[in-house]
Amino acid sequence: MAMPETQFAESHLVANTRADRIFDHMIAKLHSVPLETDPYCHYYGAGWFPDDFYADMLANFPDPKLYEPLNMRLYVRPDGESSRDQFHLTEDAIAKLPPKSQQVWRDLVDVVTRPEYRRATFAKLAPDLTKRFGISKDAVVDKACAYEVRLVRDTEDYKIKPHCDGLNKIVTTQFYLAPDMSQMDLGTSVYRRHKKLFGSSFEELKRFEFRPNSGYGFAVSDSRDKQSWHGRETLSNFKGVRNTLMVLFQQTSPNSYNGSPRTDKAAAEY
Ligand SMILES: [Fe+2]
Repeated sequence: MAMPETQFAESHLVANTRADRIFDHMIAKLHSVPLETDPYCHYYGAGWFPDDFYADMLANFPDPKLYEPLNMRLYVRPDGESSRDQFHLTEDAIAKLPPKSQQVWRDLVDVVTRPEYRRATFAKLAPDLTKRFGISKDAVVDKACAYEVRLVRDTEDYKIKPHCDGLNKIVTTQFYLAPDMSQMDLGTSVYRRHKKLFGSSFEELKRFEFRPNSGYGFAVSDSRDKQSWHGRETLSNFKGVRNTLMVLFQQTSPNSYNGSPRTDKAAAEY
């Protein structure tokens, strides 16, 4: 069951100056990045986090051994190793990290699960969300959600074909945690599908630059009129790690973040 939002919001009443500063920075960025509406509502920008906090995140990634393979069937290299691993930033998982790392990730989760952050994100992407859910902009902004907040490590040979994201997702956001400008080509692509007599082809409209401290967000759609096609070609000629942070606004989630609502997959939508 969803936790009443008032109760959820009260957990943020404890003063947290650094989180407040990060929150203000991210909200200002969200307001300033341009909204693109073609072929679906999305945005991309750089400078999402204050510089000092961005450096703290890069210096405090969990030990790679603590990450779990996302899907050994889909994301696997010829040598049998996983090419996409993730670390769910739940309170239980954060508690296992070195003490100096814990507050960094707690602050991050605190900020991105604030109701005000969700409202600002949904307001930004409202044109597509109002259509998808058949509700007014005010109702979109007030729509409750569950979360997935996870760190992701992609390595050599990772790829994901054009897809829309499942409709359990409302909004997908991903932050690129690049150490420098040497991985600029590793961003996500936005596609338009062209239907053909037999099957379809995908036109790559743009590829986000994998810049330090950058990120994108989009409204998930998968209707006849609109589909949020995106993907990533094989990370070839690439050695190393592509670190990102996924913040997913969902209808249901098996995981709770900072007291956010938790539902099992079978729970009714709310
Ligand atoms: Fe996706």
